[in-house]
Amino acid sequence: MRDLQSSDRSQLEQILICSNAFTSAEVACALELLDGVLNNPDQQDYEVIVLEVAGRVAGYVLFGAIPLTQGNYDLYWIATDPELHGQGFGRKLMAETEERLQVRGARMLCLETSSQELYQRTRRFYEQGDYKEEARIRDFYRPGDDRITYVKRFSGSGE
Ligand SMILES: CC(C)(COP(=O)(O)OP(=O)(O)OC[C@H]1O[C@@H](n2cnc3c(N)ncnc32)[C@H](O)[C@@H]1OP(=O)(O)O)[C@@H](O)C(=O)NCCC(=O)NCCS
Repeated sequence: MRDLQSSDRSQLEQILICSNAFTSAEVACALELLDGVLNNPDQQDYEVIVLEVAGRVAGYVLFGAIPLTQGNYDLYWIATDPELHGQGFGRKLMAETEERLQVRGARMLCLETSSQELYQRTRRFYEQGDYKEEARIRDFYRPGDDRITYVKRFSGSGE
């Protein structure tokens, strides 16, 4: 696990494209966030953890504190190399994120995903990680595609 480096960008772009989970607009948005982190070393809105396995980028997670909340964080993006799916790397990235947040006394980590069939395994991934569905806006992304908010609560006070 390590910080993001500019040399990771092309590998992460490939992971995002090959995962078949994201539209081209979503890939562009994910890259924009990564570029924001790479190009603004002083920014504090987003944090990235990169997982490297045998010298190769296996995945990443991007998260950040939610402004104007007490100790709440959003997980904005997670993706692992599709060739390595199901080998525990996604879980490792989540565990590292949660550990870092708990050390800071975070109260909760929130994330959003879609109700589409395509995301069924992703939802299972979160549910197995003890994330609970706390909100759902029907037809949010498009008719028939709900936005589901999953939350994991920690014991911290957010102080
Ligand atoms: C969701 C994701 C990050 C999980 O990472 P991973 O490295 O496959 O996860 P792990 O190996 O730690 O965990 C495996 C569990 O994740 C779930 N899972 C989700 N997608 C999976 C996939 N393509 N292959 C295997 N398991 C998957 C399963 O529930 C699996 O549990 P099981 O082995 O008991 O069936 C990864 O599959 C991914 O990048 N998906 C595409 C991008 C995406 O959907 N991101 C989230 C957007 S909201």
